[in-house]
Amino acid sequence: MTRPKIALIGAGQIGGTLAHLAAIKELGDVVLFDIAEGTPQGKALDIAESGPSEGFDAALKGTTDYADIAGADVCIVTAGVPRKPGMSRDDLLGINLKVMKSVGEGIRNHAPDAFVICITNPLDAMVWALREFSGLPHNKVVGMAGVLDSARFRHFLSVEFNVSMRDVTAFVLGGHGDTMVPLVRYSTVAGIPLPDLVSMGWTTQDKLDAIVQRTRDGGAEIVGLLKTGSAFYAPATSAIEMAEAYLKDQKRLLPCAAWCDGEFGLKGMYVGVPTIIGAGGIEKIVDIKLAKDEQVMFDSSVAAVRGLVDACKGIDPSLA
Ligand code: APR
Repeated sequence: MTRPKIALIGAGQIGGTLAHLAAIKELGDVVLFDIAEGTPQGKALDIAESGPSEGFDAALKGTTDYADIAGADVCIVTAGVPRKPGMSRDDLLGINLKVMKSVGEGIRNHAPDAFVICITNPLDAMVWALREFSGLPHNKVVGMAGVLDSARFRHFLSVEFNVSMRDVTAFVLGGHGDTMVPLVRYSTVAGIPLPDLVSMGWTTQDKLDAIVQRTRDGGAEIVGLLKTGSAFYAPATSAIEMAEAYLKDQKRLLPCAAWCDGEFGLKGMYVGVPTIIGAGGIEKIVDIKLAKDEQVMFDSSVAAVRGLVDACKGIDPSLA
């Protein structure tokens, strides 16, 4: 059996990290695509040369020709520009929308059977536009946000409780922006919900509220520190977790920006919800019942995403 083929569209900070992780984990052969001549080729060669020491079997190729992604099983899209300090994810809309058009067409023409994971921001609007431009089935095009936001939440909680990150589960829904909805009630330490841990005196409500806010601001915190770009290690790791779930038919339950058509009372839009990822792509959306206060936060997040999608339609009338 031949190895799966993983195409990475965008060979910048996240793209290079994705390629390295995919090779180390032997998820398949990797093609790095970018418009910047030399960057994908250089990164592919550099990572391939780490193979003898690491001991992985994976072929790496860098290219500026979409024909090289032909037959890819997975495409992970990071093409576009990242944030600089002072910019919101939404400030990237106009530039990255044009990028999604060319990437969507490239995938449609060369890898129409792939499972496509979008990382480019503003995420919920870009994954919607990418799906529109590519014309692929909705269950095969998904956005990476919830896994990263939940991982940030889990990290902060594990530090607060001084327990292994492995024993902390967390749930973050809604759009990938300031309005994201960390679901405290469904977040646990080894099954003990966070509100119970507050009652048990493991932490205070104030500290928990501060962690929730830090999670919402997680991306901006890194942008502020790096100054020249945005986070890339954790975003890449999160997308690899999703790609692995698809390639190995793991049926993982992961929060992703998925196409809701009836679920959560939404008609035809992408937003962060719990999903099951397996060989069928997004095999199911887990339509949990939200409490009143959660629903209010989710609704405002949905409204923010709708605003971005409307802005896309304003910029590119072919999307309207
Ligand atoms: N087609 C292919 N690649 C493109 C295109 C295009 N039309 N336009 C830009 N690129 C490439 C750039 O040449 C660059 O190598 O996309 C890459 C982006 O890499 P970085 O600038 O390093 O950005 P990165 O940190 O990887 O983030 C990429 O993910 O999290 C989001 O907000 C982030 O939107 C940003 C994206």
